[in-house]
Amino acid sequence: MAGQLGTVVIGGGTGFIGTALSHSLKRRGYDVLIVSRKPGVYRMTWSDLNQKGLPNSTTAVVSLAGQNVLDPTRRWTEGFKQNVWASRINTTKYLAEAIKVSNIKPKVFVTASGVGFYPPNQDEVYDEDGPGGDFDFLSHLCYDWENAANLPSHLDVRTVKIRIGVVLGRQGGMIKQLIFPFYMGFGGPVGSGDQPMPWIHVEDIVGIFIHAIESENVTGIVNGVAPQIITNKEFATAFGKALWRPSVVPLPTFAINMLFSEERGKIMTEGQKVIPKKALRTGYSFKYPNITCAAKEFSKIIYADELNM
Ligand SMILES: NC(=O)c1ccc[n+]([C@@H]2O[C@H](COP(=O)([O-])OP(=O)(O)OC[C@H]3O[C@@H](n4cnc5c(N)ncnc54)[C@H](OP(=O)(O)O)[C@@H]3O)[C@@H](O)[C@H]2O)c1
Repeated sequence: MAGQLGTVVIGGGTGFIGTALSHSLKRRGYDVLIVSRKPGVYRMTWSDLNQKGLPNSTTAVVSLAGQNVLDPTRRWTEGFKQNVWASRINTTKYLAEAIKVSNIKPKVFVTASGVGFYPPNQDEVYDEDGPGGDFDFLSHLCYDWENAANLPSHLDVRTVKIRIGVVLGRQGGMIKQLIFPFYMGFGGPVGSGDQPMPWIHVEDIVGIFIHAIESENVTGIVNGVAPQIITNKEFATAFGKALWRPSVVPLPTFAINMLFSEERGKIMTEGQKVIPKKALRTGYSFKYPNITCAAKEFSKIIYADELNM
């Protein structure tokens, strides 16, 4: 039997953000059903979704699936780019289609996108009305990803699209990759380190997804970033300080470009200044508004797998 708050169906809910979001939703009293490529308990596969549809108890649908763009073991080939594209656009379309054909409509559809929508720029500050979506592979990807979530207005399902910055948390993503070199004193900025780094603590991105699920005044695009704009160098300094280590060994741009190719290396070598105007305007309160307090939390060497949210 479904919990009193209903069921949240999360495509890609087994990942870094999805796992943290699932724990948090369950603690609040929701049932969580994950759509995954692999079957399991409290999961359905994408073909189950296609055949059986959404459970009638579904109150919210969340789209978080996506092939890891920065997987260093995968070369940036046309085939891999196609995987990156299809794993986001097709899964979001499958969820949208499931909503369209469901007998009882969920209240809200919340989907992931990225700040890569906005053009890298050292001067401009982008709120949700900023331009973008039209200049390189990643920006086109974000544009198509957001459009894949469009639903006909007569369905009366609120839709929220969250442009996520670099998510910082001990359990996954960039910090999990970087904590060992930083702890050994080999950490430092990428390239000059002057490029902006739109970031958010994992507990706050989870908080913004829940804010989007629960607050009826949240609709459309929402920037999923912390209020403090920082550079890559400021991130490296805060991370090093929290670990009591120096953070002066730069990672040269050419090394990033060699490992990842220039097109996707841009995620690290360039950046945008992005502000969470709508999250703040609609009443979201950040737990980690600045990088110093966030770094203290995500630099714990020993950590529990579940987050305290
Ligand atoms: N983490 C960040 O810093 C960040 C920043 C901006 C945007 N985002 C976006 O937010 C979403 C969630 O991020 P995350 O860090 O939680 O990602 P993640 O840990 O890599 O997990 C995403 C999930 O997507 C599913 N997936 C992976 N490859 C897939 C494929 N080829 N086809 C279908 N499903 C696939 C996997 O679920 P199964 O194995 O269970 O199928 C995986 O657990 C992603 O779309 C990501 O692009 C993340």
